[in-house]
Amino acid sequence: ATNRTFTMIKPDAVSNGFTGAILDDIIKGGFKLIAMKYTHLTSETAGAFYEVHKERPFYADLVKFMSSGPIVAAILEKDNAVEDFRKLIGATDPSKAEPGTIRNKYAKSIDANAVHGSDSDENAAIEGSFFFSNLERF
Ligand code: CMP
Repeated sequence: ATNRTFTMIKPDAVSNGFTGAILDDIIKGGFKLIAMKYTHLTSETAGAFYEVHKERPFYADLVKFMSSGPIVAAILEKDNAVEDFRKLIGATDPSKAEPGTIRNKYAKSIDANAVHGSDSDENAAIEGSFFFSNLERF
């Protein structure tokens, strides 16, 4: 497995003031920040980012939510990054996320679920490149 993954701190967590606590959990979880930015997706850019989910029933709500406020996007590094990060954040639905996971602590619903984590090495590379140029990744 490659050693990088991609994350976004979603609009709910940013607006609720959890950015610092979530970054602290990520760093204490052994992940190193390779690139990071505070930004705001438009419906066009959110739609493009989540293009793989275009046919899913939740796509329109997902795009609307992800463009509703600022986010923090980051590339993270750790051995076994994709799998270990998914363990740190917990299940997509926060009501099913293990105690102590980021979604268990900071998320309210399956849409407003505090953070995104890539689901494969391939998607981690695609998603990281969506937000960061080669000059912004170290
Ligand atoms: P994320 O990891 O960002 O990837 C797609 C997002 O769609 C997911 O987190 C959820 O916030 C949202 N979503 C809403 N409903 C569902 C669902 N039924 N299954 C998966 N993801 C969903």
